[in-house]
Amino acid sequence: MEKNILITGGAGFIGSHTAVALHQAGLKPIIVDNLSNTSMEMVHGIENIIQEKLVFHPYDCCNKEQVKSIFEQYPIHGVIHFAAFKSVAESVLEPQKYMKNNMGSLEVMLECMKDAGVNNLVFSSSATVYGEPDDNPVTEDTPFKKAASPYGETKQLGEDCIQSYCTENIHFNAALLRYFNPIGAHPSGNIGELPLGIPNNLLPLVNQAAKGERVLKIFGKDYNTPDGTCLRDYIHVMDLAEAHVAALRWVFGQNGTCQAFNLGQGKVDSVLSIIQNFESINGVAIPYEWSERRPGDVEQIWANASKAKNILGWETKRSTSDALRDSWNFAKK
Ligand code: UFG
Repeated sequence: MEKNILITGGAGFIGSHTAVALHQAGLKPIIVDNLSNTSMEMVHGIENIIQEKLVFHPYDCCNKEQVKSIFEQYPIHGVIHFAAFKSVAESVLEPQKYMKNNMGSLEVMLECMKDAGVNNLVFSSSATVYGEPDDNPVTEDTPFKKAASPYGETKQLGEDCIQSYCTENIHFNAALLRYFNPIGAHPSGNIGELPLGIPNNLLPLVNQAAKGERVLKIFGKDYNTPDGTCLRDYIHVMDLAEAHVAALRWVFGQNGTCQAFNLGQGKVDSVLSIIQNFESINGVAIPYEWSERRPGDVEQIWANASKAKNILGWETKRSTSDALRDSWNFAKK
């Protein structure tokens, strides 16, 4: 029987690509998204790719009655929980909003899973849990530093909360996926990164600069890195999406395990090299200017992702250049 997978936040950037990857893997995505930071365009984009009507409910994951009704309507085999606010800057201004939404939706999800007897969870975590690491690349055993933002704190607390839940519920399985910097888009151009309002992340801003809509600010030119700009481990969103499928298959085979996995390429690109690479691959100019360091930015972080390779049998297949090409292909449309 086709397995139903509940994807909360399934109309968002990573969620939508994961829905496509699940469908390709023969699993059935059931999407719940309150569209607070995305739109129905993404849902239609997924449908265009998979050539099938999606099961979609515009529910809020903090609303227990709504989430409960999903478990009553469909037999759910596993949950991928993306639904969360994700702006680092906004979280600094409105920490309570982040605590309430990100922790509240996780609590509702765990309660509903328990009531429905569903024991398989894949959780959307982040490399932000490591803070500014002493050494790179980071492994899953690298100790957490104090989170640089309330957003980061909700990811650290979310992981703790799931770990405790696993200890109390002996058959519960969870994969905590620590994403590095997701970029790119589906190569069809039907779905991609489409935040509402002013974007925070580098690639949506690079795309807007390429379209002449803004001058990109580069935050900091005097970091202790080869070209003075920050170093990050950028990962193609389709590689990330496929990691969720691998993680689900892994949790299905467990009986009472909770583990974290780093998801990155295991290599770095500087902000400046992203801009230069984008310009040469896509044949467009990115107007930019130098700006102050952005508060809360870590200087450099990249992943050791060998645990995901060894245990989940997953590794990245796409390069940063592939991601920059696919990102622009989506943005142009
Ligand atoms: N940057 C600029 N100019 C911009 C935007 C970003 O120079 O206008 C730089 C940042 O300073 C940083 C790099 O581009 O050096 C990447 O910034 P992003 O905002 O795209 O990503 P972050 O590394 O800050 O954060 C991302 C995710 C978070 C996650 C974190 C984990 O957005 O959700 O990685 O490290 F928590």
